Amino acid sequence: MDRPFPPLYYSEYLQLDGLLDSQHRKSEEYGAPAHDEMLFIIVHQAYELWFKQILFEMDSVIGLLSAEPVEEAHIGMCVSRLHRVTEIQKVLIDQLRILETMTPLDFLDFRDFLFPASGFQSIQFRMLEIRLGLQSDSRLRYNQAAYHSRVSPQHRDQLIEAEQHPTMFDAIQSWLERTPFLETESYRFWDAYRSAVHEMLDADRSVIERNPTLSEEEKSVQLLGLGETTAHFDAVFDPSRHEALRTEGKLRLSHRATLAALFVSLYRDQPILAMPYRLIAALVDIDELMTTWRYRHALMVHRMIGTKIGTGGSSGYHYLKSTAESHRVFSDLTNLSTFLIPRTALPELPALVRDRLGFVHKSGSR
Ligand code: HEM
Repeated sequence: MDRPFPPLYYSEYLQLDGLLDSQHRKSEEYGAPAHDEMLFIIVHQAYELWFKQILFEMDSVIGLLSAEPVEEAHIGMCVSRLHRVTEIQKVLIDQLRILETMTPLDFLDFRDFLFPASGFQSIQFRMLEIRLGLQSDSRLRYNQAAYHSRVSPQHRDQLIEAEQHPTMFDAIQSWLERTPFLETESYRFWDAYRSAVHEMLDADRSVIERNPTLSEEEKSVQLLGLGETTAHFDAVFDPSRHEALRTEGKLRLSHRATLAALFVSLYRDQPILAMPYRLIAALVDIDELMTTWRYRHALMVHRMIGTKIGTGGSSGYHYLKSTAESHRVFSDLTNLSTFLIPRTALPELPALVRDRLGFVHKSGSR
């Protein structure tokens, strides 16, 4: 049978000549070849390739979620693609182990040749953070400089341009804001739910107050924490308090999107909410795996260079450790677990809403 396409050759298709001719050790160039520099280069390049794939998946998901309305079938596609991202992230975390077969002393054989280059200048990593929704003003600054102060002017422009585009955070927020079923004329779900959660928080309060193993000081610290949780919870139902917490930077997700995400999380067993729930869970996974990578990378850096400064000029380990805590994007979704109550205590949904969520098709109904 005649094929309409010319025959393809493996290395041509994969452009291996260029790819495999892109590993040049600086140590060799400067006349002091360091064996482990080859591994260092290849591991970094493998990361960049995987970053490219992640960005490709994320862009497609942002595109699909930005459609109005989002096609039901596309939610499943988004979930599969985000699941692919999390599988890649796990490889990225594991991959550090290969690099750790290089000892700190091996690294010193070529470290001096690298200044002032650093992973800090990885444009794709920054793109990944931007696409997820990490905002410029919530980034840790090192040496009081903007995160893009260490990259070439061309790369800086690219990053600033990327910051103008919708992010995964924006896409998921507006998709959640469009979630139907949150209210009907007679639907009082939130009232019942609010009192069920208050009961749970009151029970927590009395557990703390009656705990004989806690000192008075420990009790007041725990009660303070519980007070903050209660305030957050009340804000879930009060748009103006929610807005005030957003202004203070304590919350980021809009009020409507938060209610929708909570609803989806609570009623995930309803067939129509199963996929939306998996979508939310995938974003929480991605955020968590980013954090895990950041910690894991920081620990490796500690092991490799102790508390020396990085080749890019930061405080090194300490800077990296702090980014792990503060550069999270979907904390509001993760925090929803605070307000979950057991299925047995969950208020029942009105029949009309339950029918709609359960794909009940009665004759003549749509
Ligand atoms: C011997 C191995 C490594 C060492 C000692 C190391 C060290 C560091 C240090 C000290 C920083 C902070 C910025 C600076 O002052 O330079 C940094 C940032 C970074 N490194 Fe590495 N690194 C290593 C391997 C890797 C690998 C394999 C990757 C994969 C791409 C990577 C990606 C990054 C990224 C993305 C940042 C920026 C993190 C942020 O700003 O949140 N590093 N690295």
